[in-house]
Order: sequence, then C-alpha cells, then structure tokens
Amino acid sequence: MHPDIQEILFSQEQIAARVHELGAAVAAQYAPVPSSGEGPAGRPLLAVGILKGSVPFFADLIRAVPLPLEIDFMALSSYGCGTVSSGEVRIAKDLGTDIAGRDVLVVEDIVDSGRTLACLKRLLAARGPRSVRVCTLLDKPSRRAVPFEPDFVGFTVGDVFVVGCGMDYAGRYRNLPYIGVLKPSVYGG
Ligand code: IMP
Ligand code: MG
Repeated sequence: MHPDIQEILFSQEQIAARVHELGAAVAAQYAPVPSSGEGPAGRPLLAVGILKGSVPFFADLIRAVPLPLEIDFMALSSYGCGTVSSGEVRIAKDLGTDIAGRDVLVVEDIVDSGRTLACLKRLLAARGPRSVRVCTLLDKPSRRAVPFEPDFVGFTVGDVFVVGCGMDYAGRYRNLPYIGVLKPSVYGG
C-alpha cells in the first residue's frame, strides 16, 4: 500500500468485479429489444469520459459493455476562484461529436455536490440528444448540494475524501489501482 494511504476502501479486485457488473447493467439499458423491435437509435452508444478523473474507470467500463459504442471526451472546470464550486461549469475541452439524436452515457469518477453533473446534463440536453445518462464510479449522496441522481453507480461512500483509480489530491494518486483514504498528514497537517 502507498505510504500516504490510511485505508483501502475498495481493492483493485473489488473495482474490477463491480465494473463488470456495471458494464452488464449499461448493456441491458441500451440493448435492443428484439421482440418489440424497440431499441436504441441507429447510431452506437456514445460514451463520454470526463477528463481527467474518469480515465481509468472509463477504459475499464467501455471494455465491459458489449454493444456498438463510440467514445469522446470532455474536460470541465468550475467558474470562479476559491475552493467552493460556484456550480457553473466551463467547458475546457468540448466534444468532437454532434450528439443530436444520440444516446449519450457520461462517465465520471465521483459525484459529490452534484453541481458539475447537474450543470453538464443541462448543457448536453440543450444539444438535442436522444438520451443522456450518467455512470459514476463513486457516489457521495450525503454531500449533495443540488438534486442529482446518477443512473449507474459503482460504489456509494460517506463523506470522506478518496483518491486512486482516477481520483486525485493536488493532481496526484490517480494511478493507484485501488480507492483509498489519504492520511491526514498529507493534507499539510
Ligand atoms: P461535484 O459533484 O460538482 O461537487 O464535483 C465532483 C468533482 O469533485 C469530481 O469530479 C472530483 O473531481 C471532485 N471530488 C469530489 N470528491 C472527491 C474525492 O473524494 N476525491 C477526489 N476528488 C473529488
Ligand atoms: Mg472530476
């Protein structure tokens, strides 16, 4: 275990098993229903990874979804200064894909206050997609400041700050293969 980590919440094996289940749930959501002839639009599912935190989860998840699928990425940053999010997101890197009429699955590392994804969903919905759903590796529902419900959740956690599997503290620890809690001393104590 990394010396800065106090406790491992989810091991690499637990994450891999859960990602496999999520892939199956996503596939079931978007799979065509042969008997009724109903199903997704003619275009493949568009999986949108939110940079940078979703990268490891995104890479694993898309390989666990046995459906026709395309990928794209967005990078977001919060408006304003300071440590408290203003709730408005700025698109730092936009999609290269026209999502009109498309089924869009946004893939994020963690939902905390819910501000980022609530805002992003509104931005994307304005572009006329067929559907927009959100899959997040972690959810912290107790921290919600605005109403927001992800469609697919890997794990639910309490009010703790976690790192690993894409999630960072000051840009570090994204490459840890597990999800853990940092030692308080790392925060400058
Ligand atoms: P929110 O849901 O708009 O508050 O913001 C979610 C973003 O905050 C995530 O994409 C992360 O970048 C960051 N974040 C929230 N909680 C954590 C955490 O425990 N570890 C690392 N990043 C976090
Ligand atoms: Mg993030």
